[in-house]
Amino acid sequence: MAGPGGAPTEAVLHDGTVVRFRPIEPADAPLLEDGLARLSERTRRLRFHSAVTHLTDAQLRHLVDVDHHDQEALIADLLEDGAYRGVGVARYARRSPDDDAPEFAIVVEDAVQGRGIGRWLLRALFATARVNGFTRLTAEVLAENDRMLRLLREESAGLELSRVAGAYHVELELPEA
Ligand SMILES: CC(C)(COP(=O)(O)OP(=O)(O)OC[C@H]1O[C@@H](n2cnc3c(N)ncnc32)[C@H](O)[C@@H]1OP(=O)(O)O)[C@@H](O)C(=O)NCCC(=O)NCCS
Repeated sequence: MAGPGGAPTEAVLHDGTVVRFRPIEPADAPLLEDGLARLSERTRRLRFHSAVTHLTDAQLRHLVDVDHHDQEALIADLLEDGAYRGVGVARYARRSPDDDAPEFAIVVEDAVQGRGIGRWLLRALFATARVNGFTRLTAEVLAENDRMLRLLREESAGLELSRVAGAYHVELELPEA
């Protein structure tokens, strides 16, 4: 199913499981907190570039309180046993009013990685960023993160990488809807 600008709001994974994508809301703070505790150390390091173990109340508020334009965050909810469960989040945020390539990041819980959720969540985020008027996004991706780099090559319309110490600064062109 697609929302504004063709952004997917729901997808069916190869194994038949349904996943839906929805904008984050303040009530998702406990989900982010609990979700962080379910991430392996490696996943936390790949996402935050350090093995973050705890988010302060102020950090949580900042992460859930987005304006849905200059900053957006989408939750991936997996349908399991008749109920939806948040298993991933992707976000972008403009750093200043004249920033035309907001920075983005994504994470999917270890237990459900490799099933196609990250790919669909990225598509949903990219399409939403397009709807909100952006044509480019940036990211900092650790050089060892082959899976993410491959995913970005496949899902963007063009990718520029510049190596900064142990990471790549990635600038990508968003695909047309
Ligand atoms: C990167 C990440 C978001 C991808 O999410 P995911 O749900 O695991 O990704 P998908 O299942 O959609 O897989 C995407 C591609 O990764 C590759 N992939 C999947 N499983 C893999 C594995 N076990 N080993 C290597 N590559 C794999 C495949 O190319 C796959 O494409 P396919 O759909 O053709 O199989 C997720 O692995 C994650 O949260 N990693 C830690 C945090 C992180 O690296 N964030 C990025 C920092 S910006």
